[in-house]
Amino acid sequence: MVPMDDAERVPAEQRSDLPDDLIIVSHRGPVSLARDERGDLVTGKAPGGLAPSLLRAITGTGATWIACASGALERELAADEAVSTLVKGVELRFLVMDEECVRDAYETIASSTLWFFHHSMTDIATVDFDERWRRAFAHFRQYNAAFAAEIVRLARPGATVMVNDYHLPLVAKVLRAERPDLRTLHFTHTPFATPADLELLSRDVVDELLEGMAAYGACGFHTDRWAASFKESLDHFGVSAPEIFTCPLGIDVAQLRLEDATPGVELREQQLKRRFSGRRIVLRSDRLEPTKNILRGFEAYAELLERRLEYRTEVVFYARAYASRTELAQYRDYRAAIERLVGKINGRYGTEGHQPIVFEVDQDYETSLAAYRLYDVLLVNPLLDGMNLVAKEAPVLNTRDGAVILSTGAGAYAQLHDAVIGIDPFNVDMTADALEEALTLPSEWRVPRARALKARAGEFAPSEWLARCVSYARTAV
Ligand code: F6P
Repeated sequence: MVPMDDAERVPAEQRSDLPDDLIIVSHRGPVSLARDERGDLVTGKAPGGLAPSLLRAITGTGATWIACASGALERELAADEAVSTLVKGVELRFLVMDEECVRDAYETIASSTLWFFHHSMTDIATVDFDERWRRAFAHFRQYNAAFAAEIVRLARPGATVMVNDYHLPLVAKVLRAERPDLRTLHFTHTPFATPADLELLSRDVVDELLEGMAAYGACGFHTDRWAASFKESLDHFGVSAPEIFTCPLGIDVAQLRLEDATPGVELREQQLKRRFSGRRIVLRSDRLEPTKNILRGFEAYAELLERRLEYRTEVVFYARAYASRTELAQYRDYRAAIERLVGKINGRYGTEGHQPIVFEVDQDYETSLAAYRLYDVLLVNPLLDGMNLVAKEAPVLNTRDGAVILSTGAGAYAQLHDAVIGIDPFNVDMTADALEEALTLPSEWRVPRARALKARAGEFAPSEWLARCVSYARTAV
């Protein structure tokens, strides 16, 4: 098994601030794993923002990372001792659990229920907390308990444990009972459900989730808004609050520049320039995910094409996405709905040789970086989003002083609001107005804001962010 090569990683400056007995816990592991044609194991970037950011912060620190073995390959590798050294300087542990237990915990409870509650997107017409759901919730408990048992087994006395996301709200209760010496911390990378959202869930389940969170020494969020929702929900349901803190994750600018400065990205930039030959570029880049509000973005673009006929050939909307949670019908249906809408808009407004929208679903990170360099307008319009790192990464690499349209529902909006065009993500007309405005802004508007975005992206870079989060870890009493 070949360890992931970290030779090209920029050293994190803040590593010394991390305790040497740190345990990171999350559903996903720090890297994606696959076998190449020869059967050799290859590591790649994990999906989403959480795992790659945490990985940057802890590479080389000797921290332990406990994740769930979720595919066949991870399950196979979990038993191999060599997996623990797969990522240099990180002790990696994959937990193998009963497959049905993982499916219920991850798909039914975390991804299909809690995810939408935390994004205030629960569809009251279709939720059904029936017997089947209750059984899945029992598996969710079991899944959380399995993580807790592994922490109990591996943690050194007084160790610091950082647990990530809505998959694992129930771990700390077990730790408090069995390892009261541990300093614990939970960080939520999504928004947090409001009391009105949680009112839709059964009361016993809400109590269990909130009391589970309150058992951590401290709970962290990317913005004050999500921290406030959490506190309001605790107050509303009468659960006493643990220490709550806000720490907005930034990006590792030096690392991103290093990933960008490669012949592969250069080549793809040239290819994109040829392909879009002189047209201005409206870009979006997302995980293929209903909360990202991709459909309304295209509807707004169609409205813009109605208003400005010349944009049919002068501008291209380049929408990049990577597939996500494809095991869930809701995600597959969402992709199908997007493809139908793109087909309709292109059918209506396309001309010979010009498709107004180019929608691409792939995993080609180098093309995403090349597209970041080239956009004139970046559209980031999630309904709600814990942070949204695309809004921070893309401006760092952009070479055109491109304007950024950012949803007020993205966590990043709190930090970037005065350097972007803010939009209400539900409002299609407003999004069309913002697109129109962004495509006509003079450089006096764009240049200082592009500069501000570049400067702010690196605030609370992963290593600094993690050191700060960890400083809040407490032994819950
Ligand atoms: O941002 C929340 C999050 O759950 C992250 O933990 C993860 O990186 C991302 O969404 C993708 O989700 P999943 O791990 O379910 O593919």
